[in-house]
Amino acid sequence: MNSTTINDKPNRNIFGLRGIWATIVPLFSITLLIALILWLLRKFIEGPFYRKTNRIDGKVVIVTGCNTGIGKETVLELARRGAKIYMACRDPARCEAARIEIIDRTQNQQLFNRSIDLGSLESVRNFVARFKAEETRLDLLVNNAGIMACPRSLTADGYEQQFGVNHLGHFLLTNLLLDHLKKAAPSRIVVVSSAAHLFGHIDREDLMSERRYSKFFGAYSRSKLANILFTRKLSSMLQGTGVTVNCLHPGLVRSDLNRHFRAPRWFLGLLSIVSLYFVKSLRAGAQTTLRLALDPSLEGCSGDYYADSRRFPLVPWARDEKTANWLWGESERLVGLAHNVEQSTARDDDDDDESIKTVVVSE
Ligand SMILES: *[C@@H]1O[C@H](CO)[C@@H](O)[C@H](O)[C@H]1NC(C)=O
Repeated sequence: MNSTTINDKPNRNIFGLRGIWATIVPLFSITLLIALILWLLRKFIEGPFYRKTNRIDGKVVIVTGCNTGIGKETVLELARRGAKIYMACRDPARCEAARIEIIDRTQNQQLFNRSIDLGSLESVRNFVARFKAEETRLDLLVNNAGIMACPRSLTADGYEQQFGVNHLGHFLLTNLLLDHLKKAAPSRIVVVSSAAHLFGHIDREDLMSERRYSKFFGAYSRSKLANILFTRKLSSMLQGTGVTVNCLHPGLVRSDLNRHFRAPRWFLGLLSIVSLYFVKSLRAGAQTTLRLALDPSLEGCSGDYYADSRRFPLVPWARDEKTANWLWGESERLVGLAHNVEQSTARDDDDDDESIKTVVVSE
């Protein structure tokens, strides 16, 4: 009997619908389902947003590279929460434009434009000298500035550009500011690294990529791995001081970072359309930085790597103590932080535990 009923009414579909509804309802349901999946995927791509409303009124903050991109978004949110922010940028005019815009949007007048070229050790020292003349404490340092995949070039001091700016410039900056950070304890350092560190390798024989230069998988990835090794080593040195340091992968973000990519115009055009959906907005890209900078529940947490606002385990080469120790000593030498080098005289690669103690004592 059943089979005859179905044969008699061929327009009746599985939902028991007839006529035009037999087309519209399934079509509508499928569209809704696809929209829901796309929406969920988009939520997943954007990652969690920092929702706590805690303010940091009057806290002294430095953010590097913040006239655009996630650095600017970071300053915007910190400004909303009342921070006193020193915007450390390379381009004074663009820095000022961003500063005016953020003051306009937040009504926070405590924003200052400061020049820094992280590719020049002298510029970093000048920035710190001026800052220390103005402030006696530093509550939060965000090492955000970065360059990515540029053709091989050298910093003012003759170091490979990406390693020099992303790692060495921030290495010197952070070290010179440690006393001010300690005075403000509990205080925080946030280091913007990247998942590109997974491709990174610290080549002790060719740190400046003189023999072989690969702009992304070589130099960029190395500089981002160096950010993590720096974070880990610094975190162990800062134990007990109340100063914490964590690093992060901001996610794939549409920003000026990829201005050095060369590709056909049609490809770049297509990429930018598709990327609207598949990359994070700048606001989303700043969320992991913001959580590390702001979340009261992370008080005392240090030496970790975060992505999408969550703590992630590190691959062995990103938590290798020997490499971290070697890189620290080599970086001190390269930026001319000689006092530490002198005090830890017998710096032997295989005897790194000794040199850690010496450095900690010298702090
Ligand atoms: C930086 O800010 C000051 C005000 O604090 C302003 O007078 C100065 O013109 C700004 N610098 C630039 C390069 O615009």
